[in-house]
Amino acid sequence: MASQAQPDLTNASPAHGARHVAIIMDGNGRWAKKRLLPRIAGHRAGVEAVRRVARAARDLGLECLTLYAFSSENWKRPANEIADLMGLLRHFIQADLDEFHANGVRLRVIGDYRALEPSLVDLIERAVTRTAANSGPIIAIALNYGAQDEMLRAARHLAEKAAAGRIDPNEIGVEHIDAALDTADLPPLDLLIRTSGEQRLSNFMLWQAAYAELYFTDMLWPDFDERALAKALDAFRMRDRRFGGL
Ligand code: FPP
Repeated sequence: MASQAQPDLTNASPAHGARHVAIIMDGNGRWAKKRLLPRIAGHRAGVEAVRRVARAARDLGLECLTLYAFSSENWKRPANEIADLMGLLRHFIQADLDEFHANGVRLRVIGDYRALEPSLVDLIERAVTRTAANSGPIIAIALNYGAQDEMLRAARHLAEKAAAGRIDPNEIGVEHIDAALDTADLPPLDLLIRTSGEQRLSNFMLWQAAYAELYFTDMLWPDFDERALAKALDAFRMRDRRFGGL
């Protein structure tokens, strides 16, 4: 994140009312193809969009921005593209961590990131630890993330507790599942954005999206910016959220 002023605390209750926005960042490959560039160029431009949007999230008073950077299904991509994505992630953390920290950002990760390359796991954990005591917005990066895998891990965790007699299966409620998910201490998800015109959730935050508003835009991820985020939040503000009531 480029050097910016400290978070504007007067903006703590922004008019849009959203606390947590998540984004399925889609369309890097198509962005590159339109320009006759290799796919890596699209991913590089995608990282620039991440920087812009992380900054905008803070300026717009969000408490949490979750970004789908690498899904548990992305391992099906060619090895060189996976290596490119991991390289970009590594460089992003190395290059931007000081700025994030200076701006009070708390970096978090959701997903089974421990399956990544050990030195990358170490880099991620050091970045998360270094920023953990900050009080600004959370930037949560979804890495090796799949919602079904997240729910499976939560189910196993609860089953183990039940088998050990530490929880009564009949007492298990929504709050126990919430607490067993990777997002346990993140605010409830308000708005889920997907770029590039696709209208599906692709195994992203399926449990958390139960009452989230969905927003789809044709814009390709590398073109997404602060104005696009503000537009999505404007649309969110106009939605009538009833959570099953009247
Ligand atoms: C989808 O575009 C995008 C991804 C699979 C990866 C998203 C990754 C980044 C934005 C860069 C790395 C992120 C961080 C946080 C440093 P696609 O390749 O599926 O595009 P296509 O559908 O047009 O081919």
